[in-house]
Amino acid sequence: MKRAKVVLVSGASSGIGRATATLLHAKGHIVYGTSRDPERHQAPWRMLCLDVTGEASCAAAVATVLAEQGRIDALVNNAGLVLAGAVEDTAPDEARAVLETNLFGALRLTQAVLPAMRAEKSGVIVNVGSLAGRVGLPFQGLYSASKYALEGLSESLALELKSFGIQVTLVAPGDTATSVVDNRRKARAAESPDSAYAGPFGRALATFEAEERAGAPADGVAGRIVAIVEGRATGPRYVVGPIAQRILVAARAFIPVRLFQWGLARYYRLGG
Ligand SMILES: NC(=O)c1ccc[n+]([C@@H]2O[C@H](COP(=O)([O-])OP(=O)(O)OC[C@H]3O[C@@H](n4cnc5c(N)ncnc54)[C@H](OP(=O)(O)O)[C@@H]3O)[C@@H](O)[C@H]2O)c1
Repeated sequence: MKRAKVVLVSGASSGIGRATATLLHAKGHIVYGTSRDPERHQAPWRMLCLDVTGEASCAAAVATVLAEQGRIDALVNNAGLVLAGAVEDTAPDEARAVLETNLFGALRLTQAVLPAMRAEKSGVIVNVGSLAGRVGLPFQGLYSASKYALEGLSESLALELKSFGIQVTLVAPGDTATSVVDNRRKARAAESPDSAYAGPFGRALATFEAEERAGAPADGVAGRIVAIVEGRATGPRYVVGPIAQRILVAARAFIPVRLFQWGLARYYRLGG
């Protein structure tokens, strides 16, 4: 094997992050995973305490890796928060929490690692997006907004960093069987029986949960992320997951928006 990579994986306590860290470790790389509660999530690699919503927490995690290894070859911005609820039912603090984690969390870690990567004139940043960042999903409006934003950030970064020898790649997974169903937050007002959206929200949520529980194993997404980290996949974006979902995303460009949305509304039994 070539020189082992030093890799920081945010959100490695479960799901896609844990599968990625496990595979990287198994392949001999030097892995730093993170959790907000590292004591609860023992692992064979180094587990750091990190809350991506905190500036100081991000800086400290990156400083620890640099102090111990002298470099960071790859950053995997995987930590994520899923919020369900109608846009109208989402309070400002709930909306902010999603963006603070999924967008600004990735931004904070990226800004923290870049000086060291630029000094090395090499590096890889993998941003874990979502199909919800390619298609606006009902009752996941803030989550979709955060993942669309992450797509834009990734494309801009890829252009800005190319001349420094740094690759930025977005991986957009489809439904993946992880702890996401248990960890998903619901907007407070969405849980109230008084919500104007109670019926369609309940039906759409049941569909989301069934799809996620039956989703592809996290190993598939992890395998793609590891290929990117190892320099075997150098594209700016990869859509990974169930074939039907990948076809849907690809076909979207050729289907009139009105027809596409009609199909989604039928699929999620939104009524109306
Ligand atoms: N599962 C899917 O179907 C799916 C589909 C598309 C995209 N994704 C994306 O894949 C990524 C991983 O999701 P998953 O499905 O593996 O979910 P998961 O099992 O719920 O894992 C989420 C991870 O994010 C970490 N995290 C959450 N908030 C954090 C914060 N404020 N600071 C630091 N870490 C935080 C959690 O760590 P601690 O709680 O231990 O801190 C946990 O390790 C997310 O970005 C998600 O949006 C998932």
